[in-house]
Amino acid sequence: MENIKIVVVSEETSLRVSVKKKIVDKNILIVGYADFNEDSKLKIEGLFPDMVIIAAKVPIQKSIFDFIESMKFQSKGCSVVLATDQVSVDLVNFAARYGIRQVLSLDGSDEEFCRVIAEVHEFEKKIQTQLNIQKRVRSKVIAFFGCKGGVGKSMLATNTAVALAKRGAKVMLLDFDLAFGEQHLLLDLDPKDTIVELAQDPEGISIERVNAFSTLHSSGVSLLACPKSPEYAEYVSAENITAIIRSVRPYYEYIIIDAANNFSDESIAALENCDEIMIVSNPDILSLKAAKNAINILGQLQIKEKARILINKDATPTLIKAKDFEQMLEMPIYASFSFDYKTVNGSINKGEPFILRSSRAVICREVNAFVQKIIADKKD
Ligand SMILES: Nc1ncnc2c1ncn2[C@@H]1O[C@H](COP(=O)(O)OP(=O)(O)OP(=O)(O)O)[C@@H](O)[C@H]1O
Ligand SMILES: [Mg+2]
Repeated sequence: MENIKIVVVSEETSLRVSVKKKIVDKNILIVGYADFNEDSKLKIEGLFPDMVIIAAKVPIQKSIFDFIESMKFQSKGCSVVLATDQVSVDLVNFAARYGIRQVLSLDGSDEEFCRVIAEVHEFEKKIQTQLNIQKRVRSKVIAFFGCKGGVGKSMLATNTAVALAKRGAKVMLLDFDLAFGEQHLLLDLDPKDTIVELAQDPEGISIERVNAFSTLHSSGVSLLACPKSPEYAEYVSAENITAIIRSVRPYYEYIIIDAANNFSDESIAALENCDEIMIVSNPDILSLKAAKNAINILGQLQIKEKARILINKDATPTLIKAKDFEQMLEMPIYASFSFDYKTVNGSINKGEPFILRSSRAVICREVNAFVQKIIADKKD
């Protein structure tokens, strides 16, 4: 069974402790505590709970119900339960008006308390599906970037996105290489719509519209494809790029961007709105120079701290040693990927990311280790 993440909201420490003691089911996790202050609202949202348990003693102040109403929990895919000392029919009816799914007694058995929480959670999930409400999630936006062509940005973006989806994560792949993107080819997809249709949609950019214009890959990755032809790139503005990232951010755990290898306004919008910029370089002097330039420009844009260095097409004997790279770029290498013509080109030609095959190829292990690192970093 999946975990149910809970935030307990109460003014009283004794009530928080009472709720904590009642959670005897290991699948129910208390991810945080909060009170009813204005500041707590952001804190609760940032914890992305599946459920909020409001713990309060009767008589329950109207301000608590106003707090619940103002949070609009249901629209964020979160259910609300009230835990109290005296349950009455009047209280249950009053609570229902504020969307509270259940009023629970703090005096009942711990097992019953947990059983009802699990039931309410299941019920909420059903309602969400029926109403097409997507639960908000903690997300990470990662751009694959490089100032030089052909270094392997696209193939790393595809395989990373698919590897994350294979681990059960909700992943959106945004092909922001507006003129020359090829993510749909790498995934063997023939998208009906692209980012151009989205940008031109009179309804504007929202999560619903991005989803409607995206194409689902069998791995679970949603792809927002690049324009069908390079000349359509001009229909997509930097504002569109910013709006796309902002609207998908709360709904996908990982948003992977295949960025163009330039510093156009659209590229800068993508880089400014992401959390990490994977600068892809090859172990040769031209790539190294390009990576150095990219880092300098990111410094001028004051987003250098997002940069991570990836070395791709690493071969033995190495053309440039890792430590020389690190010295020149004044940054550690985040991950390296071997040169493997057969695996990489074979998979590109088939339109099947190599990470989908349980290949024993070194590059598969390297991509898996890289993805593990991304997941571990996200938890920090
Ligand atoms: N690790 C690797 N081993 C062998 N070949 C690779 C490797 N990585 C990428 N390639 C090859 O390099 C070429 C470019 O890869 P890819 O399209 O992913 O790069 P890119 O940086 O996205 O290029 P562009 O600038 O055109 O967008 C492809 O032919 C691909 O097969
Ligand atoms: Mg590319």
